[in-house]
Amino acid sequence: FLHKIVLGIETSCDDTAAAVVDETGNVLGEAIHSQTEVHLKTGGIVPAVAQQLHRDNIQRIVQEALSASRISPSDLSAIATTIKPGLALSLGVGLSFSLQLVGQLKKPFIPIHHMEAHALTIRLTNKVEFPFLVLLISGGHCLLALVQGVSDFLLLGKSLDIAPGDMLDKVARRLSLIKHPECSTMSGGKAIEHLAKQGNRFHFDIKPPLHRAKTNNEKGKRGRTHRAILFCKQRDLLPQNNAVLVASGGVASNFYVRRALEILTNATQCTLLCPPPRLCTDNGIMIAWNGIERLRAGLGILHDIEGIRYEPK
Ligand code: KG4
Ligand code: ZN
Repeated sequence: FLHKIVLGIETSCDDTAAAVVDETGNVLGEAIHSQTEVHLKTGGIVPAVAQQLHRDNIQRIVQEALSASRISPSDLSAIATTIKPGLALSLGVGLSFSLQLVGQLKKPFIPIHHMEAHALTIRLTNKVEFPFLVLLISGGHCLLALVQGVSDFLLLGKSLDIAPGDMLDKVARRLSLIKHPECSTMSGGKAIEHLAKQGNRFHFDIKPPLHRAKTNNEKGKRGRTHRAILFCKQRDLLPQNNAVLVASGGVASNFYVRRALEILTNATQCTLLCPPPRLCTDNGIMIAWNGIERLRAGLGILHDIEGIRYEPK
């Protein structure tokens, strides 16, 4: 094979996912098993339940991704797996399975940071050079970072309270959206997006964030992403022309959020780029692609996994 090929494995939360991706960004095979339906019934993710479901499905999912790719496992250049952040019990299933496979196939192992993978997905779907600004909005995180290289992130800020996806999931639970026939298998965020399309946006007078700012000065306060764009441009951390804002993570699949960000990027002479929704939510492709990026950059590739053990916190 002329190209490097990586198997990516993701089990950080409630999706068991795997994919085989090559150096040119071709997705050779992919498979995913979502636990959303089960967790909706219990009103949230029970870590031990998630762990068991990962155990029940990981072998089949990895096998499906490999079979679809039609490559022989011996042709893999490396195996890449999410090792953090996430639910300890869920991460453990992916890691122990991967280490076993790495031992059997005698392949290099590439540990993956889940948020790095969300941030780099855009380089699989679009031609995007470093540096770019990234807004990662998911079920567990809300962060703004300047991406200067494959593993060179300057963290500009993160939410102090709740991640947006977590908030949407809790609101959906309070509203019992799972009982709505059209939404019974959707994540909270997706259900809200779906039903909001049929709603009346003027029915409630809901105040926008930061509306309580008191002084005139504070009233002129800009949203965090707006300030980050201006900050990076002022300090020449982003190019003055064709600066790019990337939005990714599950909540970035929301088209209302995308439209709001687009208004912002239009006003600041930036370009907004988002992966397609199925690559914004957790998947194996982003993990495999992160593995490719790291292989090409020669970063964090482990050739000897002897001594690596996964110990849940
Ligand atoms: O990135 P992700 O799949 O998993 C984490 O890393 O957290 O994000 C999952 C989150 C969930 O909270 C889900 O409700 C939210 O993303 N989400 C959405 C949409 N689809 C998924 N939020 C808003 N609009 C959507 N269409
Ligand atoms: Zn995620």
